[in-house]
Amino acid sequence: MATVTTTFNAPAPPATPVAHPIPPASSRLFEPVRVGKMALHHRIVFPPLTRNRNDDDHTPLPFMAQYYADRASTPGTLVISEATAVSHLEEGQEHTPGFVTERQVAAWKPIIDAVHAQGSYYFQQLWGMGRAADPALLAQRGLRYRSSSPVPLAGVEAIPAEMTEAEIAEVIQSFADTARRVVDAGGDGVEVHCAHGYLLDQFLSDAVNKRTDRWGGSIENRARLVLEVVRAVVAAVGADRVALRLSPYAAFQQAEKGDIRRQYLYVIAQLKATVPPLAYLSLVEATGDPGALIFGGKAVNQGKTLDFILEAWENRSPVVVAGGYQPETAVWALEERYKKWNTLVAFGRHFLANPDLVFRVRHGIELNKYNRPTFYLPKNEVGYNDYPFSKEYLAAQQKVSR
Ligand code: PHB
Repeated sequence: MATVTTTFNAPAPPATPVAHPIPPASSRLFEPVRVGKMALHHRIVFPPLTRNRNDDDHTPLPFMAQYYADRASTPGTLVISEATAVSHLEEGQEHTPGFVTERQVAAWKPIIDAVHAQGSYYFQQLWGMGRAADPALLAQRGLRYRSSSPVPLAGVEAIPAEMTEAEIAEVIQSFADTARRVVDAGGDGVEVHCAHGYLLDQFLSDAVNKRTDRWGGSIENRARLVLEVVRAVVAAVGADRVALRLSPYAAFQQAEKGDIRRQYLYVIAQLKATVPPLAYLSLVEATGDPGALIFGGKAVNQGKTLDFILEAWENRSPVVVAGGYQPETAVWALEERYKKWNTLVAFGRHFLANPDLVFRVRHGIELNKYNRPTFYLPKNEVGYNDYPFSKEYLAAQQKVSR
């Protein structure tokens, strides 16, 4: 671990992560935190990761239970599922999941139970894909390829249809109905995905949303869909079982916003004014842009920070930050960068490669390296359930069971 001398009384924390001298085990990473109804034992979060291990009907394969249970192996961990469709219309990419049919619900239940059996907690991330769906796949199924506006994704020939009022109402209802199914199946809550250029973000973004009705044309109108979805989901399952994910800076799938500050401050102000405190807010830093991460690039902050949102949120509920953290920079994030705020840190790639990531971070054990070519291998256990636990973790388990 690199040791870096940090200036503890610096007026403004640096925007570039540095290692922090406090050992992880005695840092805020291991300070317990209440998130909604959940009593988490630490602040390392397993975030939503698309892995394409569902079957041809968008239903989890049985071996997914082991993957999720392994990542829940330290009790008191928050495990968030991969993004999951709220209706068949949003099952727009092969081997991504839905939470719609009885068969799908029945396949998720053992996954939720397996996470709970470890003493950990489970949120389901819910999405619509909109224009990020594969238009050919939808066409095969006789489903409409659609978005906020008929603005195509770069490199995709098909032009999405502008969603009608009725389709928008249906989306809102689908989010609420799916949230209900998740909680009825035993899930601790749902995270509404309004990030990374997927459906809700396609309404929030003025680069995509060119509507002139009440769903577009102004900051307020572009925010209407995500706010309506959050309100409907909160009405269905209660605010303490609902989270919202936002990625103000991500350019992934061209969902940029012209006036980031005003757009997101409006969303935050409306949430505060009209919805009881959510379980948590999930914010992706500029360095977490999947456009850079998925293709192995390196995104830079360039002074783009989440500070304005955190200031506005005023610790109303905990905030999960994501942005390509390493264990030692995560310590820095909680101890310094975000010390005013009640934050948790998500690790995506390191967590998929380290089933015992929380144990390893606590004990300073070297991490397994992730293998990018297997991230999205459809229906395959290779690169999925074959990342080993550390020998230290296995030894500690033996001691417990003896
Ligand atoms: C992806 O599947 O590429 C993906 C999904 C959800 C995200 C980001 C990337 O938030």
